[in-house]
Amino acid sequence: MPDVTRAQRATSFGEQADAYDRGRPGYPAAALRACLPAGARRALDLGAGTGKLTHGLLALGLDVVAVEPLEAMRAAIAPEATVLAGSAEAIPLPDASVDAVLAGQAFHWFDPSPALAEIARVLCPGGTVGVLWNRFDDRVPWVAAVTEVFGAEDRASLVRGLQAPWTGAAGLSDPVSQTFAHAQRGDAGVLVDNVASRSAVITAAPRRRKEMLDRVRALAPPGAFDLPYVCHVWHARREDAPGGAARG
Ligand SMILES: C[S@@+](CC[C@H](N)C(=O)[O-])C[C@H]1O[C@@H](n2cnc3c(N)ncnc32)[C@H](O)[C@@H]1O
Repeated sequence: MPDVTRAQRATSFGEQADAYDRGRPGYPAAALRACLPAGARRALDLGAGTGKLTHGLLALGLDVVAVEPLEAMRAAIAPEATVLAGSAEAIPLPDASVDAVLAGQAFHWFDPSPALAEIARVLCPGGTVGVLWNRFDDRVPWVAAVTEVFGAEDRASLVRGLQAPWTGAAGLSDPVSQTFAHAQRGDAGVLVDNVASRSAVITAAPRRRKEMLDRVRALAPPGAFDLPYVCHVWHARREDAPGGAARG
């Protein structure tokens, strides 16, 4: 499909919700903890998709609200979470109602100004926000070859200069970054599902999509293997006074 718009890509994931759920990695517990305030009890997973990050937050013992615009993605989210239709620009929660807002692999799809205002609005005093991206660790040659097949945007080697996702947002400190190495155990089928659920691959013409997935399958190591990632996290906290002392 030529000239695929950003909006088409942002809303494409539902078409491949099953592949997404089978093929995408979760998030390391240490990365999630880095995004939470001490004593956190209730967290919002924003742009929750099929609930990969929700699952990690539930495993940490939190009450989780998962907000996701696409019905096909929401359908896969664990029933232990409160699952709501909504978007980052219009979060369906009251003011000061969660201790933390996390967004995995999703912040780049949000309209940043209204989304940051909404995040600040729903956070309790002392609350935190974390945005996370799992990026292919393409220092590993076969992983680099896989990322080349579909021009992956989220490869660790493309992250240079650590540009913050926001600065100077009202009600939020400027974020600080941390990285966490981890791996996803899988096989060729998992790797193909992972790539099949990428927006650039979902929205490609059917022939091109098949070509890419055949090449990825051919590059997969035999049997079970670890797909290495770098989880790149930016976290910040709610600030009540602009320029206040408690900057993150
Ligand atoms: C790459 S998926 C990430 C899903 C999940 N957070 C994860 O870590 O696997 C991006 C998700 O963001 C959602 N999304 C896109 N635009 C959004 C918006 N403006 N507000 C909230 N979610 C949005 C998509 O529907 C999709 O489920």
